Amino acid sequence: MPPQTAHRFPTHTLALVSNPEVVDEARRRRTFAIISHPDAGKTTLTEKFLLYGGAIAEAGSVKARQGRRSATSDWMELEQKRGISITSTALQFDYRGQVLNLLDTPGHRDFSEDTYRVLAATDAAIMVLDGSKGIEAQTLKLFEVCRQRNVPLLTFINKYDRPGLAPLELLDDIESHLNIRTTPATWPVGIPGDFRGVVDRLNNQFVKFDRTARGSTEAPELLIPAADVDPFEHDGWADAAEELELLDATEADVDVKSFLAGESTPVFFGSALTNFGVRLLLESIVDLAPAPAPRIDVNEEPRAVDAPFSAFAFKVQANMDPSHRDRIAVVRVCSGVFERGMTVTHARTGKPFATKYAHTLFGSERETVDLAYPGDVVGLVNAGDVRVGDTLYESEPVEYPRIPSFAPELFRKIRTTDTGRFKQFRKGLVQLDEEGVIQVLRDEDTGDVEPVLAAVGQMQFEVATHRLENEFGAPVALSPAPFSVARRTDAESAAEIRRLPGAKVMERSDGVLLALFENEYYLRRIESEKDHLTLLAVLVD
Ligand code: G4P
Repeated sequence: MPPQTAHRFPTHTLALVSNPEVVDEARRRRTFAIISHPDAGKTTLTEKFLLYGGAIAEAGSVKARQGRRSATSDWMELEQKRGISITSTALQFDYRGQVLNLLDTPGHRDFSEDTYRVLAATDAAIMVLDGSKGIEAQTLKLFEVCRQRNVPLLTFINKYDRPGLAPLELLDDIESHLNIRTTPATWPVGIPGDFRGVVDRLNNQFVKFDRTARGSTEAPELLIPAADVDPFEHDGWADAAEELELLDATEADVDVKSFLAGESTPVFFGSALTNFGVRLLLESIVDLAPAPAPRIDVNEEPRAVDAPFSAFAFKVQANMDPSHRDRIAVVRVCSGVFERGMTVTHARTGKPFATKYAHTLFGSERETVDLAYPGDVVGLVNAGDVRVGDTLYESEPVEYPRIPSFAPELFRKIRTTDTGRFKQFRKGLVQLDEEGVIQVLRDEDTGDVEPVLAAVGQMQFEVATHRLENEFGAPVALSPAPFSVARRTDAESAAEIRRLPGAKVMERSDGVLLALFENEYYLRRIESEKDHLTLLAVLVD
């Protein structure tokens, strides 16, 4: 096992406080997510994190667990069939005395709104790229979501054990596509496909890797001070040394301030499959990613991490597993201590909420959680009333800002093809709407009979119809709705917009009025001809 170093980068401080236990626990936590294009290696890397964190004895068990999970959960059937990840999971493991919370994000861009919600609950993210492909379409979309939230981002260039792009080329690719400064924390030695190790730039050390069988155990590492490396003994060293000089000259060093501001990204090279570079990445999460900080409430006041318990829901999901037909709210603890069994207040309704059943979440597998601290994620069962974005608190009231919704771009009319199942159809729509799977829009005239579904990605429709049919037994038919752009409006403007040809006003379940237009061109004309109308581009809740 390589030596465990002290913090490699300056650590973060929290304000002076009155509850040292909570502050200590918060300081030990790092809550982060991984974003990537499907197949870049997110699952493999996650598994290797668990291996290094000692949470699993041998790599390979995560995939086995996933197989089991899908087999016992019929609503994940769709996920399995399409080979995409729709559901998010939260994993907790220890590393170097710290507690790491890893929140999974859906890999497909059609679910980027879910990713946005997960990112509202994380303090940092890792972007995993395939070293032979660089930035791919879905990485770009997910990165944009990160940028909207200013999430500090680490980059892991994966699959370096295979032929791929040269490192400088990859940096160029990231900078030109994402407009973010790259600051390599490690630099590869050897070419992609003949990867010998990396230089840890902070310690000026050559970390030479050795393979294990498919990386089932930690990669053996030999650490050599860069100054002592014999270039004739290590293939690829001379080229790496030259490139490192270039990096030093351009001052491309890891810079904590701009990283925390989301302006630069420390870059790591490696191979999740063979475990190369995984340890250095994990250490940097501990050292670079921020610990949970006071969260800003709706009055723009920070709630100290050691204030009484508070949390917000970033995901709500019903019927995840047919053997537990219930609704789970996944919450991130923002302040105080969560103790299972405590009664908290649901800020939106003012009602008490009992937390007898609280779980950690690993897909649909559940383990009871008794205590949780800021940064931790808890799944609360029987969360009938809780919606995405809702706040829960104990004693001192607080409410956190709602998570903004994306402006929908795709619209479909929906109706049930079996009128005998209308009740189930309606119930299912309410459920999917409250979970944030899809937005349900209603019209003054047609109401519940033929509402319109609004989405950001096509696959949201597939999930909605699949779940309505399989969970609620309501067969449905979708038909085109002639809109492609939505704006938020108010009651006063709505009356006038309703009279315009080719425009419609519909109501979202939270009472927000949306004006729908056939196309951008028509909308722009209305905006310029009738500038007294309220037409807001951002659909914030
Ligand atoms: P994802 O969650 O981002 O979708 O990707 P995942 O980890 O499932 O990895 C996708 C494929 O890439 C897998 O191969 C995986 O083994 C492979 N892979 C991941 N990391 C590396 C790496 O560092 N080097 C190489 N060479 N391959 C890597 P698969 O054939 O789809 O699955 P499997 O049969 O290998 O399990």
